[in-house]
Amino acid sequence: MSTAELRSWLRSPDVKRFPYGAVVREYHSAGKHFVAPELLELLATVRELLPGLRGPWPHVQALAAFLTTALDKPDKRYDYPTYLALPLLQLPAPDDPVEQAPFARTRCDRLTAQLVSDALAFELAALDGRTTLLPQARPDAVVVRKRFRHGLRVLLPALARMSLDAGLTATEPVDLARQACAAVRGDMSYAERRAVGLSILPVYTMHDEYLFLRVLQGFETTFALIATHLRGAIAALGEGEVERAVHFMGSSETALRESSPLFSMLATMQVESFRTFRDFTEGASAIQSRNYKLLESLCRRPDPDRVESAAYRSVPDVRERVLGDQPTLDEAYRAMCESDVVAEDARKPLADAMDSFARTLLRWRRTHYRLAVRMLGEVPGTGYTEGTPYLRAVRDIPVFHSVRVEDGADHETADDHETTGAP
Ligand code: HEM
Repeated sequence: MSTAELRSWLRSPDVKRFPYGAVVREYHSAGKHFVAPELLELLATVRELLPGLRGPWPHVQALAAFLTTALDKPDKRYDYPTYLALPLLQLPAPDDPVEQAPFARTRCDRLTAQLVSDALAFELAALDGRTTLLPQARPDAVVVRKRFRHGLRVLLPALARMSLDAGLTATEPVDLARQACAAVRGDMSYAERRAVGLSILPVYTMHDEYLFLRVLQGFETTFALIATHLRGAIAALGEGEVERAVHFMGSSETALRESSPLFSMLATMQVESFRTFRDFTEGASAIQSRNYKLLESLCRRPDPDRVESAAYRSVPDVRERVLGDQPTLDEAYRAMCESDVVAEDARKPLADAMDSFARTLLRWRRTHYRLAVRMLGEVPGTGYTEGTPYLRAVRDIPVFHSVRVEDGADHETADDHETTGAP
């Protein structure tokens, strides 16, 4: 029983020996929404001790980040970032030095591979009967096979860049997933294993919430990478380095495109499961995604009515940046065109890269909208319809003003079909 282990730890607190395993087991057995008050009180006591705890800084930091997400519900500050345990994942942040932008790709590849392979590892464990974690509504083998197929589409490009693809010889998705999971697991540091292991605190005990959390975390990783690359592109243009800006935009488009099978993977979520655990996620909405709004507002300044709406009111610190004249790629590109320093044919590759990125983002929004309609339904009065009219209204907002997408976001992709079809 975790409270016994925790009480014993409290008698002689040592950050390196915090009983994460026992605490996480308790969270998993009931779901974060139903954790016993006794355990919550003990964890609050641990938090009070934090400022005085000695030990290596990464251990203290990990414990603080864990408590931020573990205590969000009793603190009444439960929201999207704490639901996703984002402080534990240490994504690239908007105040990181822009010179670090080229390294963000490596960090995000690792994290994407770890999050997606962990989602697949959970499916494998359930398939093999090796886990009792989140036992409600296990999906059938056909659905799970689809999860492997789509998950591998996201994993394999990252594994190739990480040079972890040499031993991936299987042809069957289930076997290939086993190989991929083993390759990623073997490559992880202790700190990475701890962060991935602690960053999954579902609110309830439905099997599919595991997938839901990992998919959201995977997309957050992609958004954070793109926001970092957009800052890199803006800085590059400021120094007249058009080729570097093209590189960052190309890399952003690739990252977003490669992440899109996550939607197909999530489309295999069982609607009833989603509607069941969603009762306990009240207060956490991706409208609070800072990384998505950073991405959007670094492309171009959002229109004033959007800045004043829930879209930006839900991410106050990003709104502050927007109101505080955060530079945008749109303005940087326009300034370059007006200055005439760069010849038109030298500007063309950047316009093309921005156009290509904008198309992929518009497609992302459309696929997201379709998936939301599929999961929530559109019938008035179900209680789930409020959000989809919002998504329909915002899905065509122009990504840039200086570079206009004429029509290209309209053609359908395989992932569009997967998100609307049956799982
Ligand atoms: C079951 C699948 C999903 C459903 C039903 C869904 C539903 C919604 C709804 C209704 C909104 C509008 C805001 C609100 O009322 O909460 C929204 C916003 C949003 N969702 Fe999703 N979503 C799903 C999956 C995802 C995924 C996987 C991501 C990736 C991170 C995501 C990212 C976003 C973002 C960034 C917004 C804010 C858009 C904006 O403000 O322009 N959603 N979603």
